[in-house]
Amino acid sequence: MLKDKKIILGITGSIAAYKAAYLIRLLIKKGAEVQVVITPAGKEFITPLSLSTLSRHPVISEFFSNRDGSWHSHVDLGLWADVMLIAPATASTIGKMAHGIADNMLVTTYLSCKAPVVIAPAMDLDMFAHPATQQNLSRLRSFGNYIIEPGEGPLASNLEGKGRMEEPEKIVDWLENFFASQSELQKKKILITAGPTYEKIDPVRFVGNYSSGRMGFALAETCAGRGAEVTLITGPVSLSTEHPRIHPIHVESAEEMYQAAMTAFPHTDAAILCAAVADYRPEAVAPDKMKREDKADMTLRFVANKDIAAILGAIKQEKQILVGFALETNDEIAHAERKLKKKNFDFIVLNSLREPGAGFRVDTNKVTLLDNKGEVTVFPLKSKQEVAVDIVNKLVTLLK
Ligand code: CTP
Repeated sequence: MLKDKKIILGITGSIAAYKAAYLIRLLIKKGAEVQVVITPAGKEFITPLSLSTLSRHPVISEFFSNRDGSWHSHVDLGLWADVMLIAPATASTIGKMAHGIADNMLVTTYLSCKAPVVIAPAMDLDMFAHPATQQNLSRLRSFGNYIIEPGEGPLASNLEGKGRMEEPEKIVDWLENFFASQSELQKKKILITAGPTYEKIDPVRFVGNYSSGRMGFALAETCAGRGAEVTLITGPVSLSTEHPRIHPIHVESAEEMYQAAMTAFPHTDAAILCAAVADYRPEAVAPDKMKREDKADMTLRFVANKDIAAILGAIKQEKQILVGFALETNDEIAHAERKLKKKNFDFIVLNSLREPGAGFRVDTNKVTLLDNKGEVTVFPLKSKQEVAVDIVNKLVTLLK
């Protein structure tokens, strides 16, 4: 899995930097190409000579070479890599990455990097547990970066606890599993609906909802990251995506979303219906802006929209997987089970508005997955990116 993979190894100023030497040996043995980028503090812990000898490449630390003045392009480096691994990552570098403080070659490379970024923190237990570090790590997770949690054990401070950089063998295993997962959905076509729908009242007004589209976009990124071609049908959102395997279709109303979904669905292996589709729309759209005319009240008549999920559930072929969402405020499990059956989903993602940190307009979610075999899996509060990984893991097992 690591053969010919191009890896940027970022090394920062931690005593665990000595483990980077062994990590490079393991990666080279697996056939990877390793380019070390080290911070000035990192060089206090391990010499560039050891690192360049092991990695068979000159080590990069400054923006330009002091010897001949040649420029090290962090942009080219960021484009070259298949993955950027920062091991060990200190609290300081994690903080700089989380806030875009690009005062060294490592952080500028990170900001330019198009490849997945994996971070293996190393620090004292209290530094790791501090809310500043934990919030920075959450921020990095929300950017889609991966964290290899540190292990527990004796630390350089003579204290014991969580903060030791994960062992090089385990980091290599993590990378191998990661690259294996990247091709899991190759040749699969996946349809995702995301965001709200807007139902027009007149040329300047609509009925909508608070959906931000973040969960649907995170799902699209995760599926595309694992090799799938994704058709992303999205209602009005302020998000965008640059992934070459995500093909966005922008719609406004439930009817437009329905039309786009019906066109795409027959050619897909799976559909994840994450959009908050309006159940009703105004019966008539006023051709001109409606005037107040000093009326004390007004009444709008609504008619039902098509239930996209139920229609796809009815036409779904045996091999196609259909995944739905349920956002509930009460009797959550019962409502989700009813929707699972009624719409012929293979599994449904339940989130409750009663759970703090779940639902619309937040970066986190707390979900329960219920499948049509009766299996129920409850997950803790996570970032929407991590929730997307849990959902896509379940999808992958069903597509196999
Ligand atoms: N859905 C859809 N088309 C609709 C309504 C809902 O595709 N017109 C999908 C949603 O994307 C979601 C699932 O159906 O995957 C459940 O949506 P939800 O609004 O919770 O379900 P409803 O059937 O509308 O039930 P409720 O009475 O709770 O609104």
